[in-house]
Amino acid sequence: MSLAGKQILLVIGGGIAAYKSLDLIRRLRERGACVRPLMTAAAQQFVTPLAVGALSASHVYTDLFSREDEQDVGHIRLARECDLIVIAPATADLMAKMANGLADDLATAALLARDKQVLVAPAMNPRMWENPATKRNVACLKADGIAFIGPMRGEMAESGEAGLGRMAEPLEIVGAIEDMLSARSRPLQGKKAIVTSGPTHEPIDPVRYIANRSSGKQGHAIAEALARLGAEVTLVSGPVTLADPAGVNVIHVERAEDMRDAVLNALPADIAVMVAAVADWRVADASTHKIKKQPGEGPPALVLAENPDILATVGHHQARPRLVVGFAAETQNVSVNGRAKLERKGADLIVANDVSPETGIMGGERNSVRLIYREGEESWPELSKADVAAKLAEKIAAMLGNA
Ligand code: CTP
Repeated sequence: MSLAGKQILLVIGGGIAAYKSLDLIRRLRERGACVRPLMTAAAQQFVTPLAVGALSASHVYTDLFSREDEQDVGHIRLARECDLIVIAPATADLMAKMANGLADDLATAALLARDKQVLVAPAMNPRMWENPATKRNVACLKADGIAFIGPMRGEMAESGEAGLGRMAEPLEIVGAIEDMLSARSRPLQGKKAIVTSGPTHEPIDPVRYIANRSSGKQGHAIAEALARLGAEVTLVSGPVTLADPAGVNVIHVERAEDMRDAVLNALPADIAVMVAAVADWRVADASTHKIKKQPGEGPPALVLAENPDILATVGHHQARPRLVVGFAAETQNVSVNGRAKLERKGADLIVANDVSPETGIMGGERNSVRLIYREGEESWPELSKADVAAKLAEKIAAMLGNA
């Protein structure tokens, strides 16, 4: 894709990976983009403004208190007069400041004043990336709708340590920039989507619960894929160990009833994709105290009550989204059972899969699905859950476009 006429504000943070930002500037300019570089003080310890200025053919912005820079464009205009802000490399410090809204230098002030999308390419030592403080900051930035590329797994330039922390390669960053700037690749711009994902936990007492084997991988990947196509996504997630996906508003719930409430609260929407493995039953009268063993009395009997069917509720709601998609987890008669669910739950599309233990789908990385519509069916080959998500998001965009 050509980036002709696109204006990129490139914020270079202070890390050894800053040397790669020089190549990034070249790659962006090759594709016709204008790059306006902004360097933090630390970045200037790794690469010089002279090199950055020469490669970008632009003034290099460095100082919040420079009269010359402020008179030229100023930090507000710097943040606004661009199509996209890219931070590469983004250090742990820069992300921490952003997550907390600090603005004590030109980079952070411009980032706080922005009204444009931001793409962050983190680079740091794996221990710094794994630190709970960094994790909190990254989760916070993702919840604010900031996009990430990387970090990648690999050896660190400075210490030789291996792990997650290497900055994405310049061409990978260019790919992410192209994705974000291409209107063609954002057919769901302006559309609202609700996605459910993961299992639910139904309490027996304060320490025990009923759950299932859903990992949330497929639902989370779908939320992220819809967001990548431009949708404004609310992901209602049951308890999972996954990170919140990029650019998605995530609501964490435990019980099916809480999931239903969160979904109904997120209406109206254009699209609903109900991927969660909602527990069909909850314990009718969950105990508020830990149930103790009663010597001689044997185990207690659990009385179950039926949970609300969230998909059916949405599929028959007066504010029904234009497109309602459900999943069907089956272990036999996938097509017949899937079609019955399509009818019963008022869905436009059911994505059916065989979750028999031997398929390894539940909790695994891959999925093999059959799409059941009102007017037909199609089977997809076995794909990674990320690829199923990307294809499904495209399919949803096409179905909405045709509707
Ligand atoms: N679903 C839901 N709320 C429920 C149960 C299921 O929203 N209480 C949704 C799931 O998210 C999925 C679809 O309904 O999109 C089908 O879920 P599945 O577990 O396959 O089917 P069930 O309705 O539970 O039917 P059964 O257990 O008979 O297969």
